[in-house]
Amino acid sequence: MTSDDPAPFVELREVTKHYPGVTALDAVSLDLRLGEVHALVGENGAGKTTLTGVLTGALHADAGEVFVAGKSVKLDSPAAARKLGIVGISQELAIEPYLTVSDNIVLGQEPTVGPGHQVLSRRLADSTATRALASLGASDVPLGSTAGRLSTARKQLVEIARALALDARVILMDEPTSSLPGSDASKLLELIRELRADAKAILFISHRLEEVIEIADRVTVVRSGRKIATLPIEEAPIDRMIELMVGRSIKDFFPPRRSLPGDVVLEIEGMSRDPEFHDVSLSVRSGEILGLAGLVGAGRTEVMRAVAGADPRDAGTIRLHGDELDPASPSDSIAAGIVYLPEDRTEQGLVLTMSVLENIALPSMARLTQGWGLLRRARVQDLGRQWCSKLGVRGRIEGSVANLSGGNRQKVVIAKWVATTPQVLIFDEPTRGIDVGAKREVFEVMHELAAGGAAIVFVSSEIPELMNVAHRIIVMSAGRVTDELQEHEFDEERILTAAFAAHVERKALT
Ligand SMILES: Nc1ncnc2c1ncn2[C@@H]1O[C@H](COP(=O)(O)OP(=O)(O)O)[C@@H](O)[C@H]1O
Ligand SMILES: [Mg+2]
Repeated sequence: MTSDDPAPFVELREVTKHYPGVTALDAVSLDLRLGEVHALVGENGAGKTTLTGVLTGALHADAGEVFVAGKSVKLDSPAAARKLGIVGISQELAIEPYLTVSDNIVLGQEPTVGPGHQVLSRRLADSTATRALASLGASDVPLGSTAGRLSTARKQLVEIARALALDARVILMDEPTSSLPGSDASKLLELIRELRADAKAILFISHRLEEVIEIADRVTVVRSGRKIATLPIEEAPIDRMIELMVGRSIKDFFPPRRSLPGDVVLEIEGMSRDPEFHDVSLSVRSGEILGLAGLVGAGRTEVMRAVAGADPRDAGTIRLHGDELDPASPSDSIAAGIVYLPEDRTEQGLVLTMSVLENIALPSMARLTQGWGLLRRARVQDLGRQWCSKLGVRGRIEGSVANLSGGNRQKVVIAKWVATTPQVLIFDEPTRGIDVGAKREVFEVMHELAAGGAAIVFVSSEIPELMNVAHRIIVMSAGRVTDELQEHEFDEERILTAAFAAHVERKALT
């Protein structure tokens, strides 16, 4: 398919786009072919969204040319791009929440009847919408329901259906899976395969590099507005992509460990809750990053939530500096100095209507609100500023947290809890869904906290991350601890074997 190099359908030649103070695209050339998924990867701010903006006609390039089917074209408006068959599925879904599914699908090309053709033809609109949804295998999405009430996955389907109703040949998807749960994401990938088989050209932007490997035919890597390389996917394994994205070798990607483990801070003994976990014992020292490895469903999150007082336990003791702790709620744990940062960022209650600085100060309010009003305000601002700069939060920190990108929101969540100066921090999959640059910053923060004497539990499904960041790794499988490795024993195969241990045992028994 890609081996005989078909002619490009869309071609960008040396496209440049400046913003005040930054060159978002610097003479970028790239081509899209029909029947092909072309992935675009790069750190936050590399220029990916700007590139899709140029192609959808939403942004005007300062220099360069775009060709469609061999002809030089002017993409000076979204309507012009649509006419050429180019449609973007946006990062912030472009759904009209108060309109119905049907109206959303025909949006911008509503079929009309009546004198002067000003009345929407409901019948035509519905039949167009029905056809588009059916071709996506999504006939179960009700035409008449209000689009704003649909799940994210279904809103996305409506957007894709709109593209098909427009007879799009080129579909640009900017991080379409970043806000989808796993099962919906794999359905979307399946759908993308069908679109490819249907001879669409697809530009696919994602931070999830496993997805890119799974779905793309070719990949283009951009860094700081420049195109670094376009490669057939077979020549771009994940670590190669990361190297190209960050511009340094993978060895330098992980910041060095900076702390030495001291005294035991947190100790868990014989903790169980049927059927999730059984007889789990572990301890974490001051200055130590303890990695917690395992497959999804191994019980790592469940154990940690019990430690954080978010869920009950049937048996087992928790000790903090030797004193027994029996947290009945998260506030008990927080008061004792144990903070749990869950994987699901929406659950952590960033208050979207509040500013970044206010969000960071929230859990520390009790401490900050002593004294006069003015002083209070200054303290809130200081605390927020201090952590934003330590964590490299990018964006307007006086403004609403809703305006930050996903990676930066993740940093605000961390800042918010870290600002309470806890003794134990449990990071549950802190790097999921954020780009490589933000990942490195999260690791830096963990090292800094450890160097400051905190005890850290780092739950991750990425074994290389654990091996390069943690001082020690405990592996869980089906609710039990199955192995423990000191730093000099770290070995990917051994960790994987332990992660599968319970499953292998079970097979042997049956
Ligand atoms: N509307 C804008 N005004 C000013 N700068 C912008 C604007 N949009 C994007 N940028 C800047 O352009 C660069 C590329 O951004 P973007 O294309 O959004 O990157 P990506 O999608 O790869 O994260 C970044 O430095 C970003 O800050
Ligand atoms: Mg973007």
